[in-house]
Amino acid sequence: MNKNIITLIGFMGCGKSYAGRILARELGYNLVDSDAEIERRQNKTIPQIMSETGEQGFRKIETEVLKDLLQHDFTVLSVGGGAVLNNGKLLNDGSMVFFLDTDFEKCYDRIKNDANRPLVYGKSKDEVLALYNGRMDIYKNNCHFVVKSEDSAESVKKIKEILKNY
Ligand code: S3P
Repeated sequence: MNKNIITLIGFMGCGKSYAGRILARELGYNLVDSDAEIERRQNKTIPQIMSETGEQGFRKIETEVLKDLLQHDFTVLSVGGGAVLNNGKLLNDGSMVFFLDTDFEKCYDRIKNDANRPLVYGKSKDEVLALYNGRMDIYKNNCHFVVKSEDSAESVKKIKEILKNY
């Protein structure tokens, strides 16, 4: 575990980006969003990459980008909701990983109409719920800390409390 890099994981819409922004500002760390970095490097949007290379192609690029991002200390790293699927060890060895455990309804409300989330857009609520349920154990088993809270401000507070002991 590298405590100089804080990685936020969790389902789409759980608040990783928002909490990451507040946390980075308060810690004086750089904020990096792995999806934004993927889009920047490929000069394509996530939906474009997914439709051109499939989810598998996207995951390969994601792993390469994560390896690079984990080289930089004093970073808050907000990663895509599926980043831990193939990179659990990488993230846990190279950073301190917090799982933002947010209720499904809250996540779903934030993501349901978002065309930039190809794994959700056009899917039924039940399909998204199945994805969510299938992911929960993966998140819990691939983090150092589970942060369950009502909103991002509370998540940040809890993360900072934990960091005090490290
Ligand atoms: C994904 C989540 C997305 C993005 C991609 C796949 C996932 O990121 O990486 O669409 O598999 O859960 P956000 O969690 O930021 O929406």
